[in-house]
Parts: sequence; structure tokens; C-alpha cells
Amino acid sequence: MDTEVKKIMKKHYDNPAVAKHYAKERFSGRRLRTHKKEEKMVERFLKIVGKNESILDLPCGTGRFQKQLSEYTFSLTEMDFSSAMLKEAKENMTHNFPQEWHHKINFFEGSVFDIPFSENEFDLVFSMRLYHHFSEEEQRLKILHELKRVSRKWIIISFYNKHSYLHARRVFKEKYKNRPSYRFSITIEQFKKEVKQTGLELHTFSSRARYFSEQTLALLSVPVSFEKLD
Ligand SMILES: C[S@@+](CC[C@H](N)C(=O)[O-])C[C@H]1O[C@@H](n2cnc3c(N)ncnc32)[C@H](O)[C@@H]1O
Repeated sequence: MDTEVKKIMKKHYDNPAVAKHYAKERFSGRRLRTHKKEEKMVERFLKIVGKNESILDLPCGTGRFQKQLSEYTFSLTEMDFSSAMLKEAKENMTHNFPQEWHHKINFFEGSVFDIPFSENEFDLVFSMRLYHHFSEEEQRLKILHELKRVSRKWIIISFYNKHSYLHARRVFKEKYKNRPSYRFSITIEQFKKEVKQTGLELHTFSSRARYFSEQTLALLSVPVSFEKLD
């Protein structure tokens, strides 16, 4: 099932029209509010972790968070498996960033299931709006393992919370319209179980409104081990 979803997602996000729409319209108009609220949640976590040497933004999409993340690091790596989304992210940087910031941003094409970086490469790995695309625990665990492998300290990751009003509303709408959205929610308990199974530590959650919003952000840390020390 998830292999099929992976293919559908790749085809969807590789479409330049989809990428353009995501960059210009997905979070504009009345949805700008959603973006602003997400930015606020992210800011809260970034303040907790403070400025870091290096951040990996995976998937970066069209670079919605690259400016905000850049303020908290000396080196930002923007990575996604869609070249069309990456192209938009690069354009976003060229048009909206001060020239003196350009040198600290790198772009990489690749999959979250096989991240082309070595262990402990980044201080912080940021993963927004990806986890909820996978319905199978096995796939989600693979993602968490890969994020943990390349992170030295922190992971900020979003998932969809099943115990929320917006989840119930979305499921109802999808049934009514008979159209799948390829978004899958899990309970907070399930998320905690997956984090524990991966050997990560959960610090805190944040959502726009508890029991209302489906979108939830978690701050995780990688336990310090002797192998992880320089
Ligand atoms: C909903 S967008 C989120 C983008 C960005 N994080 C944001 O919040 O605006 C999902 C992104 O995940 C990327 N993606 C999906 N599956 C992926 C995979 N296996 N590896 C890397 N990127 C993936 C897509 O290309 C797309 O850019």
C-alpha cells in the first residue's frame, strides 16, 4: 500500500504545475493563517533548541521554512525527492533571501528512506508534513530511524493527530466525496510508541489547538551516546 503511495506522491510532486501551486497558492489567501500558525509553532521549538551549526530540512518542499530555519543556523541543507519542488525552493531563495545568506544554503535531491548523508551530520533535522503520508508503521519507523541516524541532537517532526476535530471532519468529507487524500492520522500514544521504539526521546508537543487541529509538531532528541560524541 505505502509503496503505491510513494509512487503516487512522487508523480504528484514531480509535476511542475503542482510545485508552482504549492509555492504560490497552497499557503496563501485564507490558508496563509495556517502557515503563520505553523511558523509560530516552529519558532517555539527553534527557540528551545537555539542556534545550531547545521540543519537539514527534509522534505523542504518549496522552501516554506527555509528563511526561518536559516536564522537558526550557519548551514542549511534543503532536501526533497522532487526536483520540481526543489526548483521552487531555489527560486524562493534567489528572490527572497539577502545575497549574503545564499552561501549557507545547499540543495539536495533524495529520499528520506535513504538519506545521502553520514551519521550525525546535522545538529537538527526538521521534517514538516511528511510523516502523515504513511499509513504503515513500518514505513514511519524507517523514516524515524533515518532522521535519527543523521541527527546529532534534535529532530522537529510533524504528524497528524487522530484525536482531533479536524481529523473527524476530513475523514467525513473524504467518505462523502469518495476521494482519498493520502493523509493518515495516528494517535499521540501511537506516535509516542514509535518514538520510543526508535530510541528517541520526546520533549514536547505543539499544535494549533488541542483536540481541534490535526497537525501536531513534536520536538525529539537523540540520546547522547559515546559513539555520537566527537
Ligand atoms: C506536503 S509537502 C511538505 C513540504 C514542506 N515540508 C512544507 O511543509 O511546506 C510534502 C513534500 O514531501 C516530499 N516527499 C514525499 N515523499 C518523500 C520522500 N520519500 N523523500 C523525500 N521527500 C519526499 C514531496 O516531494 C513534497 O515536497
